[in-house]
Amino acid sequence: MLPFPIKRRRKEAAVAIDPGAPHVVFPDICIFLVERRMGAARRGFLTSLAQRKGFSVAQEYSGAVTHVVSEQNSFTDVLSWIERKTGKPMQSAEDQMSPHILDISWFTESMSSGKPVPVEATHRLGILGSQVSKDKDALSTVAPYACQRRTPLTHHNSEITEALEILGKAAAFQGSEVRNLAFSRAASVLKSLPSKLQSAEEARNLVWCGGHCQAVIQEILEDGVCHEVEALKICEQYQCMELLTGIFGVGVRTAERWYKDGVRKLRDLENPNIKLTADQRAGIEHYTDLKQPVTLQEARHVERLITDALHRFVPDLEITMTGGFRRGKQQGHDVDFLITHPSEESLNGVLKKAVDWMDSQGLLLYHHTKVRSRVLAQRRSTHMDGHETCYAIFALPSLDSMRCEAGAPGAHTWRAVRVDLVVTPYEEYPFALLGWTGSKHFERELRRYSWHEKNLSLNSHGLYDTQKNCSIPATSEEEIFALLGLDYVPPPYRNA
Ligand code: UTP
Ligand code: MN
Repeated sequence: MLPFPIKRRRKEAAVAIDPGAPHVVFPDICIFLVERRMGAARRGFLTSLAQRKGFSVAQEYSGAVTHVVSEQNSFTDVLSWIERKTGKPMQSAEDQMSPHILDISWFTESMSSGKPVPVEATHRLGILGSQVSKDKDALSTVAPYACQRRTPLTHHNSEITEALEILGKAAAFQGSEVRNLAFSRAASVLKSLPSKLQSAEEARNLVWCGGHCQAVIQEILEDGVCHEVEALKICEQYQCMELLTGIFGVGVRTAERWYKDGVRKLRDLENPNIKLTADQRAGIEHYTDLKQPVTLQEARHVERLITDALHRFVPDLEITMTGGFRRGKQQGHDVDFLITHPSEESLNGVLKKAVDWMDSQGLLLYHHTKVRSRVLAQRRSTHMDGHETCYAIFALPSLDSMRCEAGAPGAHTWRAVRVDLVVTPYEEYPFALLGWTGSKHFERELRRYSWHEKNLSLNSHGLYDTQKNCSIPATSEEEIFALLGLDYVPPPYRNA
């Protein structure tokens, strides 16, 4: 087992409210922290934190207050508490505009951004108790499999999901798929919620969010951070595993072996005793470029290049960008494409021809083509031999030609970008599209659902009834969902 630090709940000591006049960076904002349910010690801690970051925090409520922040209180709780303290009815609170009556989430987000974040509906306390009970119902009815839910790209609980995903990654680094799945499931459930979790109590109603996950949720809601996650982020082994698994061609097992052999930095891999695959050598050579996220604009540029190359050989080849970009992401770690055509003959050998042509044009820094496995090929009655995948590193010509001309002599006029090109027979295309659109967790859940709930085996080639030993055809993604008895989930909602 890796020596990752054991979680320890740290109780913040009472911090006195700074009586001096701290430097105010945001003069338009005046925060008032409601002590009710927060307690004096935590209020003191949060006050100093905000003051250190340049926020003005009022010790007494007054008309100067612009943002009232409270924890675990309803809108009416806050109003009556302030009215009792001041002995006056609060002015124009009904419209919730002046002052803003907010949940602690606005405060923690502002502290981590280092500036006041815009107030959104999710930050405001609900006016009526009925809203709370409606949300509670929504929480207890979250479906257990990610493929039974809609998960948008942007959601309301990113602080918690990011923490859970780091814990999931650490579990994967330790070789524990079970714990990795547990954290991924909890994170995925929170991503699908229609609103921000208000309390750890609410999480109790959620599927997959008990035990360790519940403790993490509670800690973040109360303290704004999870200490186990903060400790992981600075743990040498975690950082090193992250560095090594971030290399193209390196999985967890290889990274772990290297770590045990003393590898800590990329240059430690220059040791001649370490045998590297061709993928890994290319991954190390272009490490810095490949770590830079690929933008949607760059992905579109790659799309134009490969479309041009492939259409030179088969003009009506169908090319689809899949992966994260199809789910609406604005950036990714690579660009994924599916290539298909109704005629198998048109597909045979086309990828190789296009790749060779792009290579001759200096567009490729590296490529490695894998031919479809024999077992899968035999499952099909036809004899197509062209179902290949090309894992490539493109030398993407710079979009910013001005910068290139002004660049120093010998400066790159390109950047390395990872691209996956997959050729798929026409009848497998809907399955390949579903399989390569992701997210990884959505796919994992879809396969588990098919197997455990429907007794069917699903992959990027097809859907198989293993008892009847036959495949079940489909002509669209919608049809595959229908065959599985699932509501159709459009790609932008597969960000599980
Ligand atoms: P990616 O790893 O490219 O993920 O795989 P992504 O969602 O596009 O993320 P970014 O934006 O690049 O970081 C895309 C989908 O393709 C499947 C994965 O399971 C995922 O669902 N995939 C990937 C395969 O089926 N086989 C592979 O060899 C690689
Ligand atoms: Mn991708």
